[in-house]
Amino acid sequence: MLKLGVNIDHVATLRQARYRGIEGGEPDPVAAARICEESGAHGITAHLREDRRHIQDRDIWRLRREVRTRLNLEMANVPEILDIALRLRPDIVCMVPERREEVTTEGGLDVAGQEAALKRSCARFAGAGIEVSLFIAPDPIQVEAAARVGAGWIELHTGAMAEAYSRSADWGMEAGRLAAAARQAGELGLRVNAGHGLSCQNLRGLFDVPHLVELNIGHSIISRAITVGLAQAVREMLNAMREYPGP
Ligand code: PXP
Repeated sequence: MLKLGVNIDHVATLRQARYRGIEGGEPDPVAAARICEESGAHGITAHLREDRRHIQDRDIWRLRREVRTRLNLEMANVPEILDIALRLRPDIVCMVPERREEVTTEGGLDVAGQEAALKRSCARFAGAGIEVSLFIAPDPIQVEAAARVGAGWIELHTGAMAEAYSRSADWGMEAGRLAAAARQAGELGLRVNAGHGLSCQNLRGLFDVPHLVELNIGHSIISRAITVGLAQAVREMLNAMREYPGP
């Protein structure tokens, strides 16, 4: 059975829109993580970005204390975050590229272009007993490099397949690339996750991709939660307003 890791960054994005620079505030990504776990999610993913645009340091420490499944910390391979990750001890880290001007993680990591630095970080995480995944495009050069640097896992970037699917374009070709990369990873002894842009509809495009262990999904789950939860939130507000003693 495929496992589901829920990316809760989007919950923090909404909170930061109102409560930047203020402790607390809603919605709380840790409370969201608890609901995800109670609803069957197999893991929680959070990305501590260098610019702290959504998840804050206090969030990841609370997540570490409260997550009962598996905590996956997404991170750039930079000294400040590496140091935090080694102290935090998530179950797994997923190294991603990070650019300040991007809205979300837009491309895969160029593992082949920074093998030495990634090898050093993988060795430090291995020494601390923390698993490492590398978020890469379904590109044979990157898969090979991921195996060489000593990561145990890759997360295949599904963004191109998801986008083609939503445009009703030829998503089969993108799914074929993902399948080939997953097959190659399996032969190299890497374990394979996938994520980015996935929804209940387009994840069918992964059904022919072998070796998949976990899908990391954020945006479609959190946005769907607004749609299916809005009616209850409005009812709760109307109930609270009923207590007004009258004009
Ligand atoms: N996996 C990685 C490495 C990501 O950076 C993201 C986006 O934060 C996701 C999965 C989840 O993508 P989405 O929010 O589009 O489901």
